[in-house]
Amino acid sequence: MTVELPTSWRSALPHLSEPMPPDLTPETAAGNGVGVNLPMELVRQSVLEREFWKIPEPVLDAYRQFRPTPLWRATGFERAIGARVPVYVKYEGGNISGSHKLNTALAQAYYYKQAGVKELVTGTGAGQWGTALAAACALFGLRCRVFMVDSSLRRKPYRGVLMRMLGAEIHSSPSGLTSVADRRGEGIGNSLALAIGEAVEYASTHDGVAFCIGSGETYSILHQSVIGIEAQGQLAELDGQVDMVVGAVGAGSNFGGIALPFHAEARSTGTRPPTLVAAESSTAPKLTRGVYAYDKTDATGSGPLEAMYTIGSDYPIPDAHSAGLRFHGAAKIISAMRHTGDVAATAVTQQEALDAGRLLTRNECVLPAPESGHALAAAAKLATSGADGMRAEQGVLVCVSGHGYLDLAAYEQLLNDELGDEAPSEQALLRAVSGLTPAGTGAPAPLLAGGPR
Ligand SMILES: Cc1ncc(COP(=O)(O)O)c(C=O)c1O
Repeated sequence: MTVELPTSWRSALPHLSEPMPPDLTPETAAGNGVGVNLPMELVRQSVLEREFWKIPEPVLDAYRQFRPTPLWRATGFERAIGARVPVYVKYEGGNISGSHKLNTALAQAYYYKQAGVKELVTGTGAGQWGTALAAACALFGLRCRVFMVDSSLRRKPYRGVLMRMLGAEIHSSPSGLTSVADRRGEGIGNSLALAIGEAVEYASTHDGVAFCIGSGETYSILHQSVIGIEAQGQLAELDGQVDMVVGAVGAGSNFGGIALPFHAEARSTGTRPPTLVAAESSTAPKLTRGVYAYDKTDATGSGPLEAMYTIGSDYPIPDAHSAGLRFHGAAKIISAMRHTGDVAATAVTQQEALDAGRLLTRNECVLPAPESGHALAAAAKLATSGADGMRAEQGVLVCVSGHGYLDLAAYEQLLNDELGDEAPSEQALLRAVSGLTPAGTGAPAPLLAGGPR
Protein backbone atom coordinates (compact mmCIF):
# COMPACT_ATOMS: atom_id res chain seq x y z
CA MET A 1 0.00 0.00 0.00
CA THR A 2 1.32 3.45 -0.80
CA VAL A 3 0.48 6.48 1.29
CA GLU A 4 -2.33 8.60 -0.14
CA LEU A 5 -2.58 12.36 -0.30
CA PRO A 6 -4.27 13.55 2.92
CA THR A 7 -7.75 14.98 2.34
CA SER A 8 -7.82 17.00 5.59
CA TRP A 9 -5.37 19.28 7.36
CA ARG A 10 -4.83 18.58 11.06
CA SER A 11 -4.73 21.40 13.62
CA ALA A 12 -2.74 21.32 16.85
CA LEU A 13 -4.90 24.07 18.39
CA PRO A 14 -7.15 21.62 20.29
CA HIS A 15 -4.04 20.03 21.81
CA LEU A 16 -2.08 22.98 23.21
CA SER A 17 -0.98 22.62 26.85
CA GLU A 18 -2.11 26.21 27.46
CA PRO A 19 -4.22 28.51 25.26
CA MET A 20 -2.18 30.94 23.16
CA PRO A 21 -2.02 34.43 24.68
CA PRO A 22 -4.40 36.73 22.77
CA ASP A 23 -2.96 39.29 20.34
CA LEU A 24 -2.62 42.91 21.47
CA THR A 25 -4.25 45.32 19.05
CA PRO A 26 -2.46 48.67 18.91
CA GLU A 27 -4.79 51.67 19.02
CA THR A 28 -3.05 52.99 15.93
CA ALA A 29 -4.19 49.95 13.95
CA ALA A 30 -7.66 51.43 13.38
CA GLY A 31 -7.99 52.31 9.73
CA ASN A 32 -4.42 51.26 9.09
CA GLY A 33 -4.86 47.54 8.60
CA VAL A 34 -4.73 45.57 5.37
CA GLY A 35 -7.07 46.76 2.63
CA VAL A 36 -8.97 43.52 2.26
CA ASN A 37 -9.92 41.41 5.24
CA LEU A 38 -8.60 37.94 5.75
CA PRO A 39 -10.97 35.39 4.20
CA MET A 40 -13.30 34.02 6.87
CA GLU A 41 -12.07 30.45 6.48
CA LEU A 42 -8.50 31.54 7.25
CA VAL A 43 -9.75 33.38 10.34
CA ARG A 44 -11.63 30.27 11.45
CA GLN A 45 -8.59 28.09 10.87
CA SER A 46 -6.56 30.44 13.08
CA VAL A 47 -8.85 30.45 16.09
CA LEU A 48 -11.19 27.46 16.18
CA GLU A 49 -10.18 24.42 18.18
CA ARG A 50 -11.29 22.09 15.43
CA GLU A 51 -8.82 19.33 14.67
CA PHE A 52 -9.55 18.29 11.06
CA TRP A 53 -10.19 20.70 8.17
CA LYS A 54 -11.28 19.32 4.82
CA ILE A 55 -8.94 20.45 2.02
CA PRO A 56 -11.00 22.12 -0.76
CA GLU A 57 -11.12 20.02 -3.95
CA PRO A 58 -9.34 22.60 -6.22
CA VAL A 59 -6.47 22.74 -3.69
CA LEU A 60 -6.32 18.95 -3.54
CA ASP A 61 -6.18 18.86 -7.34
CA ALA A 62 -3.20 21.20 -7.27
CA TYR A 63 -1.53 19.18 -4.47
CA ARG A 64 -1.86 16.03 -6.61
CA GLN A 65 0.74 17.43 -8.99
CA PHE A 66 3.50 17.08 -6.39
CA ARG A 67 2.11 15.23 -3.32
CA PRO A 68 2.61 12.91 -1.53
CA THR A 69 6.23 14.04 -1.38
CA PRO A 70 8.98 11.44 -0.91
CA LEU A 71 10.22 10.15 2.44
CA TRP A 72 13.16 7.81 2.65
CA ARG A 73 15.69 6.45 5.10
CA ALA A 74 18.88 8.38 4.32
CA THR A 75 21.37 5.57 4.80
CA GLY A 76 24.13 7.35 2.83
CA PHE A 77 23.77 10.43 5.07
CA GLU A 78 23.67 8.17 8.14
CA ARG A 79 26.96 6.54 7.15
CA ALA A 80 28.59 9.90 6.42
CA ILE A 81 27.73 11.33 9.84
CA GLY A 82 28.25 8.07 11.77
CA ALA A 83 24.63 7.96 12.94
CA ARG A 84 23.68 5.72 15.87
CA VAL A 85 20.01 5.69 14.79
CA PRO A 86 18.12 5.86 11.47
CA VAL A 87 17.59 9.26 9.86
CA TYR A 88 14.49 9.69 7.69
CA VAL A 89 14.26 12.56 5.22
CA LYS A 90 10.96 14.09 4.09
CA TYR A 91 11.61 16.13 0.96
CA GLU A 92 9.50 19.16 0.03
CA GLY A 93 11.68 20.56 -2.78
CA GLY A 94 10.02 18.79 -5.71
CA ASN A 95 7.60 21.44 -6.95
CA ILE A 96 7.96 24.60 -9.04
CA SER A 97 8.49 26.83 -5.99
CA GLY A 98 11.23 24.51 -4.77
CA SER A 99 9.89 24.35 -1.22
CA HIS A 100 7.07 23.55 1.17
CA LYS A 101 5.70 27.08 0.74
CA LEU A 102 3.46 25.97 -2.10
CA ASN A 103 1.35 23.94 0.37
CA THR A 104 -0.07 27.09 1.94
CA ALA A 105 0.24 29.38 -1.11
CA LEU A 106 -2.27 27.22 -2.99
CA ALA A 107 -4.71 27.19 -0.10
CA GLN A 108 -4.44 30.95 0.46
CA ALA A 109 -4.78 31.85 -3.23
CA TYR A 110 -7.88 29.67 -3.37
CA TYR A 111 -9.52 31.34 -0.34
CA TYR A 112 -8.62 34.88 -1.48
CA LYS A 113 -9.96 34.18 -4.97
CA GLN A 114 -13.21 32.97 -3.40
CA ALA A 115 -13.32 36.23 -1.41
CA GLY A 116 -13.17 38.30 -4.62
CA VAL A 117 -9.60 39.61 -4.30
CA LYS A 118 -7.84 40.48 -7.57
CA GLU A 119 -4.19 40.72 -6.52
CA LEU A 120 -2.03 39.24 -3.77
CA VAL A 121 1.04 41.05 -2.50
CA THR A 122 3.73 39.70 -0.23
CA GLY A 123 7.27 39.97 1.10
CA THR A 124 9.82 37.22 0.61
CA GLY A 125 13.30 36.52 1.97
CA ALA A 126 14.90 33.63 0.15
CA GLY A 127 12.33 33.90 -2.64
CA GLN A 128 10.71 30.51 -2.17
CA TRP A 129 7.58 32.03 -0.65
CA GLY A 130 7.34 34.64 -3.40
CA THR A 131 7.75 31.93 -6.02
CA ALA A 132 5.15 29.77 -4.34
CA LEU A 133 2.65 32.62 -4.21
CA ALA A 134 3.40 33.54 -7.83
CA ALA A 135 2.70 29.92 -8.85
CA ALA A 136 -0.50 29.73 -6.81
CA CYS A 137 -1.74 33.05 -8.22
CA ALA A 138 -0.99 31.84 -11.75
CA LEU A 139 -3.00 28.71 -11.07
CA PHE A 140 -6.00 30.47 -9.53
CA GLY A 141 -6.03 33.50 -11.89
CA LEU A 142 -4.85 36.26 -9.52
CA ARG A 143 -2.28 39.03 -10.04
CA CYS A 144 0.81 38.73 -7.83
CA ARG A 145 3.30 41.34 -6.52
CA VAL A 146 6.39 40.41 -4.49
CA PHE A 147 8.75 42.56 -2.40
CA MET A 148 11.97 40.55 -2.09
CA VAL A 149 14.83 41.34 0.33
CA ASP A 150 17.34 43.22 -1.84
CA SER A 151 20.49 41.37 -0.73
CA SER A 152 18.75 38.09 -1.42
CA LEU A 153 17.48 39.13 -4.86
CA ARG A 154 20.98 40.24 -5.81
CA ARG A 155 22.36 36.88 -4.72
CA LYS A 156 19.59 34.95 -6.44
CA PRO A 157 18.51 36.89 -9.51
CA TYR A 158 17.02 33.75 -11.05
CA ARG A 159 14.42 33.66 -8.27
CA GLY A 160 13.19 36.96 -9.67
CA VAL A 161 13.20 35.56 -13.20
CA LEU A 162 11.21 32.52 -12.11
CA MET A 163 8.59 34.67 -10.38
CA ARG A 164 8.33 36.87 -13.46
CA MET A 165 7.98 33.76 -15.62
CA LEU A 166 4.99 32.92 -13.45
CA GLY A 167 3.55 36.37 -14.17
CA ALA A 168 4.41 38.15 -10.89
CA GLU A 169 5.76 41.69 -10.54
CA ILE A 170 8.92 41.91 -8.41
CA HIS A 171 10.34 44.80 -6.34
CA SER A 172 13.64 44.61 -4.49
CA SER A 173 13.15 45.74 -0.88
CA PRO A 174 13.82 48.47 0.27
CA SER A 175 11.91 49.51 -2.84
CA GLY A 176 11.39 53.26 -2.65
CA LEU A 177 7.67 52.62 -3.23
CA THR A 178 6.59 52.73 0.40
CA SER A 179 7.04 55.01 3.38
CA VAL A 180 8.08 52.16 5.67
CA ALA A 181 11.18 51.64 3.50
CA ASP A 182 12.06 55.32 3.93
CA ARG A 183 12.07 54.84 7.71
CA ARG A 184 14.61 52.02 7.72
CA GLY A 185 17.32 54.34 9.04
CA GLU A 186 15.35 54.32 12.30
CA GLY A 187 16.49 50.77 13.00
CA ILE A 188 14.43 48.77 10.52
CA GLY A 189 17.06 46.66 8.82
CA ASN A 190 17.32 45.23 5.32
CA SER A 191 15.37 42.17 6.32
CA LEU A 192 12.31 40.07 5.77
CA ALA A 193 10.40 42.18 8.31
CA LEU A 194 10.93 45.21 6.07
CA ALA A 195 9.94 43.39 2.86
CA ILE A 196 6.78 42.21 4.61
CA GLY A 197 6.19 45.72 5.93
CA GLU A 198 6.38 47.09 2.41
CA ALA A 199 3.86 44.53 1.18
CA VAL A 200 1.49 45.32 4.06
CA GLU A 201 1.66 49.02 3.28
CA TYR A 202 1.20 48.46 -0.46
CA ALA A 203 -1.89 46.33 0.11
CA SER A 204 -3.41 48.81 2.54
CA THR A 205 -3.16 51.61 -0.01
CA HIS A 206 -4.48 49.78 -3.11
CA ASP A 207 -7.99 48.53 -3.89
CA GLY A 208 -8.71 44.86 -4.48
CA VAL A 209 -5.24 43.95 -3.23
CA ALA A 210 -4.65 41.71 -0.23
CA PHE A 211 -1.49 41.13 1.74
CA CYS A 212 -0.69 37.50 2.12
CA ILE A 213 1.89 35.80 4.33
CA GLY A 214 3.36 32.35 4.10
CA SER A 215 4.97 31.40 7.32
CA GLY A 216 4.06 32.28 10.87
CA GLU A 217 0.30 32.46 10.66
CA THR A 218 -1.58 29.67 12.40
CA TYR A 219 -3.48 28.89 9.18
CA SER A 220 -0.21 28.57 7.18
CA ILE A 221 1.04 26.06 9.71
CA LEU A 222 -2.27 24.19 9.46
CA HIS A 223 -1.89 23.95 5.66
CA GLN A 224 1.63 22.60 6.11
CA SER A 225 0.30 19.73 8.24
CA VAL A 226 0.10 17.65 5.06
CA ILE A 227 3.87 17.15 5.48
CA GLY A 228 3.61 15.54 8.91
CA ILE A 229 0.43 13.58 8.15
CA GLU A 230 2.05 12.01 5.10
CA ALA A 231 5.27 11.37 7.03
CA GLN A 232 3.37 9.48 9.74
CA GLY A 233 1.88 7.15 7.13
CA GLN A 234 5.18 6.74 5.29
CA LEU A 235 7.09 5.94 8.48
CA ALA A 236 4.46 3.37 9.41
CA GLU A 237 4.90 1.74 5.99
CA LEU A 238 8.65 1.52 6.53
CA ASP A 239 8.12 0.36 10.12
CA GLY A 240 10.27 3.36 11.08
CA GLN A 241 10.31 4.62 14.67
CA VAL A 242 11.41 8.16 15.46
CA ASP A 243 11.79 9.91 18.79
CA MET A 244 12.89 13.25 17.29
CA VAL A 245 11.29 15.34 14.54
CA VAL A 246 13.35 18.23 13.20
CA GLY A 247 12.64 21.20 10.94
CA ALA A 248 14.35 24.51 10.19
CA VAL A 249 12.57 27.57 11.61
CA GLY A 250 12.19 30.90 9.88
CA ALA A 251 8.87 31.64 11.51
CA GLY A 252 7.89 28.02 11.83
CA SER A 253 5.77 26.72 8.96
CA ASN A 254 7.73 23.71 7.68
CA PHE A 255 8.72 22.81 11.24
CA GLY A 256 5.11 23.15 12.40
CA GLY A 257 3.96 21.24 9.33
CA ILE A 258 6.11 18.22 9.95
CA ALA A 259 6.10 18.28 13.75
CA LEU A 260 2.65 19.32 14.99
CA PRO A 261 0.71 16.34 13.55
CA PHE A 262 2.95 14.14 15.75
CA HIS A 263 1.98 16.26 18.77
CA ALA A 264 -1.73 16.08 17.85
CA GLU A 265 -1.58 12.33 17.31
CA ALA A 266 0.18 11.73 20.63
CA ARG A 267 -2.29 13.94 22.53
CA SER A 268 -5.25 12.22 20.82
CA THR A 269 -4.02 8.74 21.63
CA GLY A 270 -2.51 9.47 25.05
CA THR A 271 0.96 8.43 23.91
CA ARG A 272 4.32 10.14 24.29
CA PRO A 273 5.14 12.49 21.40
CA PRO A 274 8.58 12.56 19.81
CA THR A 275 10.74 15.53 20.80
CA LEU A 276 9.94 18.30 18.33
CA VAL A 277 13.19 20.11 17.58
CA ALA A 278 13.18 23.53 15.94
CA ALA A 279 16.50 24.23 14.19
CA GLU A 280 17.10 27.95 13.89
CA SER A 281 19.89 30.08 12.49
CA SER A 282 22.42 31.35 15.02
CA THR A 283 22.12 34.73 13.26
CA ALA A 284 18.42 34.98 14.24
CA PRO A 285 18.24 32.92 17.45
CA LYS A 286 14.76 33.76 18.73
CA LEU A 287 13.92 30.36 20.23
CA THR A 288 17.28 29.80 21.91
CA ARG A 289 18.27 33.35 22.90
CA GLY A 290 15.13 35.45 22.47
CA VAL A 291 12.46 36.56 24.92
CA TYR A 292 8.79 35.51 25.03
CA ALA A 293 7.13 38.86 24.51
CA TYR A 294 4.66 40.82 22.43
CA ASP A 295 6.26 42.03 19.22
CA LYS A 296 5.43 43.17 15.72
CA THR A 297 5.19 40.61 12.94
CA ASP A 298 6.52 43.10 10.38
CA ALA A 299 8.30 46.43 10.26
CA THR A 300 5.15 48.59 9.87
CA GLY A 301 3.68 47.32 13.12
CA SER A 302 0.23 48.00 11.69
CA GLY A 303 -1.14 44.61 12.69
CA PRO A 304 -1.72 43.37 16.22
CA LEU A 305 1.24 42.58 18.45
CA GLU A 306 1.65 38.82 18.86
CA ALA A 307 3.13 36.76 21.69
CA MET A 308 6.29 35.27 20.25
CA TYR A 309 9.85 34.32 20.99
CA THR A 310 11.67 37.25 19.48
CA ILE A 311 15.04 38.91 19.20
CA GLY A 312 13.23 42.20 18.53
CA SER A 313 11.59 43.19 15.25
CA ASP A 314 13.93 46.18 14.94
CA TYR A 315 17.08 44.10 15.35
CA PRO A 316 19.06 44.37 12.09
CA ILE A 317 19.69 40.69 11.42
CA PRO A 318 23.11 40.14 9.83
CA ASP A 319 23.14 39.11 6.21
CA ALA A 320 23.31 35.35 5.67
CA HIS A 321 22.65 32.86 2.92
CA SER A 322 19.63 31.35 4.64
CA ALA A 323 17.45 34.35 3.96
CA GLY A 324 14.34 32.36 4.82
CA LEU A 325 15.53 32.07 8.43
CA ARG A 326 16.30 35.78 8.82
CA PHE A 327 13.11 36.54 10.70
CA HIS A 328 13.09 38.07 14.17
CA GLY A 329 10.28 36.00 15.71
CA ALA A 330 8.76 32.55 15.82
CA ALA A 331 5.10 31.87 14.96
CA LYS A 332 2.79 32.38 17.90
CA ILE A 333 1.69 28.73 18.00
CA ILE A 334 5.32 27.50 17.88
CA SER A 335 6.27 30.08 20.52
CA ALA A 336 3.40 29.05 22.79
CA MET A 337 4.50 25.41 22.52
CA ARG A 338 8.11 26.40 23.20
CA HIS A 339 6.94 28.25 26.30
CA THR A 340 5.10 25.19 27.62
CA GLY A 341 8.01 22.87 26.84
CA ASP A 342 6.27 21.05 23.96
CA VAL A 343 8.82 22.32 21.43
CA ALA A 344 12.60 22.16 21.83
CA ALA A 345 15.12 24.25 19.92
CA THR A 346 18.73 24.38 18.85
CA ALA A 347 20.73 26.98 16.92
CA VAL A 348 22.91 26.14 13.94
CA THR A 349 25.63 28.22 12.28
CA GLN A 350 25.71 28.92 8.56
CA GLN A 351 28.91 26.87 8.23
CA GLU A 352 27.30 23.87 9.96
CA ALA A 353 24.17 24.17 7.83
CA LEU A 354 25.98 24.30 4.51
CA ASP A 355 28.34 21.49 5.58
CA ALA A 356 25.30 19.35 6.31
CA GLY A 357 23.88 20.36 2.92
CA ARG A 358 27.08 19.21 1.25
CA LEU A 359 26.85 15.87 3.06
CA LEU A 360 23.29 15.31 1.88
CA THR A 361 24.28 16.24 -1.67
CA ARG A 362 27.21 13.84 -1.77
CA ASN A 363 25.57 10.96 0.02
CA GLU A 364 21.92 11.15 -1.07
CA CYS A 365 22.30 13.14 -4.33
CA VAL A 366 19.77 15.70 -3.07
CA LEU A 367 20.84 19.35 -2.96
CA PRO A 368 19.00 20.99 -0.04
CA ALA A 369 18.23 24.68 0.45
CA PRO A 370 20.61 26.32 2.96
CA GLU A 371 17.59 26.75 5.26
CA SER A 372 17.01 23.01 5.20
CA GLY A 373 20.73 22.54 5.91
CA HIS A 374 20.01 23.88 9.41
CA ALA A 375 17.55 21.05 10.03
CA LEU A 376 20.01 18.53 8.60
CA ALA A 377 22.86 19.80 10.80
CA ALA A 378 20.64 19.56 13.87
CA ALA A 379 19.43 16.08 12.83
CA ALA A 380 23.05 14.97 12.37
CA LYS A 381 23.92 16.13 15.89
CA LEU A 382 20.85 14.46 17.40
CA ALA A 383 21.63 11.19 15.62
CA THR A 384 25.27 11.22 16.79
CA SER A 385 26.67 13.01 19.84
CA GLY A 386 23.54 15.03 20.65
CA ALA A 387 22.74 18.75 20.88
CA ASP A 388 21.59 20.96 23.74
CA GLY A 389 21.07 17.98 26.02
CA MET A 390 19.03 16.04 23.42
CA ARG A 391 20.09 12.77 21.77
CA ALA A 392 17.94 10.49 19.63
CA GLU A 393 17.52 6.91 20.87
CA GLN A 394 15.22 5.53 18.14
CA GLY A 395 15.40 7.61 15.00
CA VAL A 396 15.24 11.12 13.60
CA LEU A 397 12.78 12.49 11.05
CA VAL A 398 14.00 15.64 9.31
CA CYS A 399 12.17 17.94 6.94
CA VAL A 400 14.21 18.98 3.93
CA SER A 401 12.01 21.96 3.22
CA GLY A 402 13.42 22.92 -0.15
CA HIS A 403 16.02 22.44 -2.87
CA GLY A 404 19.15 24.52 -3.26
CA TYR A 405 19.47 24.88 -7.03
CA LEU A 406 19.17 28.65 -6.79
CA ASP A 407 21.54 28.76 -3.81
CA LEU A 408 24.63 27.44 -5.51
CA ALA A 409 26.43 30.73 -4.89
CA ALA A 410 26.19 29.96 -1.17
CA TYR A 411 27.61 26.48 -1.69
CA GLU A 412 30.35 27.97 -3.86
CA GLN A 413 31.41 30.10 -0.88
CA LEU A 414 31.41 26.99 1.28
CA LEU A 415 33.61 25.12 -1.20
CA ASN A 416 35.97 28.11 -1.41
CA ASP A 417 36.16 28.49 2.39
CA GLU A 418 34.69 31.98 2.18
CA LEU A 419 31.76 31.68 4.58
CA GLY A 420 31.37 34.01 7.53
CA ASP A 421 29.07 33.70 10.54
CA GLU A 422 27.77 36.54 12.63
CA ALA A 423 25.76 35.79 15.77
CA PRO A 424 24.20 38.77 17.55
CA SER A 425 25.94 40.06 20.67
CA GLU A 426 24.16 39.89 24.02
CA GLN A 427 24.10 43.70 24.23
CA ALA A 428 22.58 44.08 20.76
CA LEU A 429 19.86 41.59 21.62
CA LEU A 430 19.13 43.22 24.96
CA ARG A 431 18.81 46.58 23.24
CA ALA A 432 16.47 45.17 20.58
CA VAL A 433 14.07 43.57 23.06
CA SER A 434 14.10 46.30 25.69
CA GLY A 435 10.66 47.80 25.99
CA LEU A 436 8.77 44.73 24.77
CA THR A 437 5.88 43.55 26.95
CA PRO A 438 6.46 40.02 28.34
CA ALA A 439 3.99 37.34 27.20
CA GLY A 440 2.70 34.13 28.75
CA THR A 441 1.67 33.11 32.22
CA GLY A 442 3.91 32.33 35.15
CA ALA A 443 7.49 33.46 35.06
CA PRO A 444 8.40 36.64 33.21
CA ALA A 445 9.82 36.28 29.71
CA PRO A 446 12.98 34.17 29.98
CA LEU A 447 15.98 36.31 29.34
CA LEU A 448 18.46 35.95 26.63
CA ALA A 449 20.98 33.48 27.95
CA GLY A 450 18.40 31.54 29.95
CA GLY A 451 16.09 29.96 27.35
CA PRO A 452 12.51 28.97 27.92
CA ARG A 453 11.10 27.62 31.14
C1 LIG B 1 13.42 26.26 1.92
C2 LIG B 1 12.96 27.00 3.13
N1 LIG B 1 13.00 26.37 4.32
C3 LIG B 1 12.61 26.99 5.44
C4 LIG B 1 12.16 28.31 5.42
C5 LIG B 1 11.76 28.94 6.70
O1 LIG B 1 10.40 29.27 6.76
P1 LIG B 1 9.39 28.50 7.68
O2 LIG B 1 9.92 28.61 9.08
O3 LIG B 1 8.11 29.21 7.52
O4 LIG B 1 9.30 27.09 7.22
C6 LIG B 1 12.10 29.00 4.21
C7 LIG B 1 11.60 30.39 4.15
O5 LIG B 1 11.71 31.07 3.19
C8 LIG B 1 12.50 28.32 3.03
O6 LIG B 1 12.46 28.94 1.85
